[in-house]
Amino acid sequence: MDPTWGQALDQALVREEARVPAGDRWLFYQTALTGPARRAWMAGWPPPAAGAWVDWGTAYGALAVEVAHQYAVRVYGVDWSRARLSAAARWEGAVPHRGQVWWTEADALSFSPPEPVVGMSARFLLQHLPDPAGALAHWAAVLEPGGVLFVEDVDDGWTVEHPAPPPAWAAVVEALSRLQRDRGGDRQIGRRLPELVTAAGLELADTALAVQGARVSSEAFRLSRQLEVLRMEGERDALLAGGYLTREAWQEGVSARASASGPVFMSAGTLRLRAVKPPASSAPPSRQISPVC
Ligand SMILES: C[S@@+](CC[C@H](N)C(=O)[O-])C[C@H]1O[C@@H](n2cnc3c(N)ncnc32)[C@H](O)[C@@H]1O
Repeated sequence: MDPTWGQALDQALVREEARVPAGDRWLFYQTALTGPARRAWMAGWPPPAAGAWVDWGTAYGALAVEVAHQYAVRVYGVDWSRARLSAAARWEGAVPHRGQVWWTEADALSFSPPEPVVGMSARFLLQHLPDPAGALAHWAAVLEPGGVLFVEDVDDGWTVEHPAPPPAWAAVVEALSRLQRDRGGDRQIGRRLPELVTAAGLELADTALAVQGARVSSEAFRLSRQLEVLRMEGERDALLAGGYLTREAWQEGVSARASASGPVFMSAGTLRLRAVKPPASSAPPSRQISPVC
């Protein structure tokens, strides 16, 4: 059961809706809709030691606010989008904070808070970065020994829809994946995360495959389809300008998705992990990776 404060946060976020630019609505809705699942994951986190926390790629700041609400730490919500940070600052007061949030317009590959960092989180950021290994090396350097990093990210290999989506829509999804790859991102980064984190000198404490999957009702499918189409619309100009899709293929894909009666089963998987920075004197971390199951 989601705590009342979580619902208050989601409602406050939704009240911001009209001020969010159309092209960013999908990210905004995703932040609100994934609130209960995000908080259920966070409920299993050990409370942080005294010090600072960094939420890298905080966007609308939900996770940063949730940490500051629960713990007496200063949270740096870092993003290079001023518009998203401004929205975050408008709704963060929906619940009282034990800690503080400092919205920080900065690059996640170079920002260092001016105080010891005991905890960090990065949700759905590494999939966008051309150099995720470089980002993790920087984060590991910023983290205090004994500090903890939580990461969640996607892997499209764990997305299953049955019956399969219309081919015209699948072509749009595939075009977005190519666009993201050409920008240096990776929509299959989930499977690489344990390896990347250990290569950065952090010790993997646990990993879990979080699959949101179910036999879906027609209403749930309608909502998820709207979110998907919004996400694609946010990138439509880049997809067309870059030659990833023709205008006709775009239109055909969106119409096919809109008219599909819907799958009976859908799943979307993400990898969640917790990693710890070992004490300075300890032996180099093992590169052995436990299987994820
Ligand atoms: C998918 S959103 C993250 C969503 C958010 N963490 C959540 O859990 O809801 C990715 C965010 O990372 C930001 N971003 C991407 N690259 C960045 C960089 N190098 N430095 C700072 N922010 C970055 C984008 O502006 C965007 O807001």
